[in-house]
Amino acid sequence: MATWSAPGKVILFGEHSVVYGKPAIAMAIKPRVQVTVRHSRYYQKPNSPYISECFRLTDVKGSVYVRSQLPSASGLGSSAAVTVATLFAINDEFELGYTREEVGDLAFEVEKATQGGRASATDTYVSTFGGLVFIRGSEKRRLLPPQNLSIVIGNSLISHNTAEMVEKVAELRRTSPVIANGIMDAIGGVTMEAMHNLENPKELGVLMNRNHALLDALGVGHPVLSQLVLAARNAGAYGAKLSGAGGGGCIWALCSKGSRNRVAGAIEDCDARPITTSIDTEGARREKDE
Ligand code: MEV
Repeated sequence: MATWSAPGKVILFGEHSVVYGKPAIAMAIKPRVQVTVRHSRYYQKPNSPYISECFRLTDVKGSVYVRSQLPSASGLGSSAAVTVATLFAINDEFELGYTREEVGDLAFEVEKATQGGRASATDTYVSTFGGLVFIRGSEKRRLLPPQNLSIVIGNSLISHNTAEMVEKVAELRRTSPVIANGIMDAIGGVTMEAMHNLENPKELGVLMNRNHALLDALGVGHPVLSQLVLAARNAGAYGAKLSGAGGGGCIWALCSKGSRNRVAGAIEDCDARPITTSIDTEGARREKDE
């Protein structure tokens, strides 16, 4: 038996356009998913398509037990964390000998297969390695986390389907390529500006608001997400934007220490769930078997 856990994530900048080679910045966050895999002759096909794909790809048979502190279908990377933790547990239990990098690459293959062939390595990479990361195509780098990055997440409690939202953007690219590509170029520009302003919360907040507006223009917004970002900004956040695939799920707000509780309260007043969390720097890790 082998038990591994992996963290969730927030995409700070660049979701969706990252699927088309533009840059993104993402951060691993503390809530985790824990997966136990046990060698077993009696293989029962798992309910999760992500877990099924992990077993198919590694060509082993076993039983799986999942415990999660992450809300699913909320944009906080729970499917990537389940995939990463399952693959590390399989690697350990069946002594497959993959390195951390190789498990991360396999996790990306699983996400791609279950997202209809369209995915970036953002979620799986950040869940594998932890910390703050920069992704652009095959370029993946860990960044020095800025001091005092105080964030509040707002879960709209509206579930979404990442594959559907990714397909929606692909459809806009097919029907209106000039518009879709123009928006994605602009998101890429905002993300690069953010890279140069990671220690400057005021400027970062302005860039978050721009990124949110561009995601709305791309068609992945939701009225409740807009309500949440406005509530967070009015309560004193430097900036706020949706995070992940959109169409539901979460927003994140950048706050000063002084405004954090006010922002969390404003999110609660919109009947959404505030989550105050911080960066996870470990990535996937082995846990004690219970
Ligand atoms: C989903 O968390 C992020 C997207 O950019 C999809 C991906 O990068 O694979 C929407």
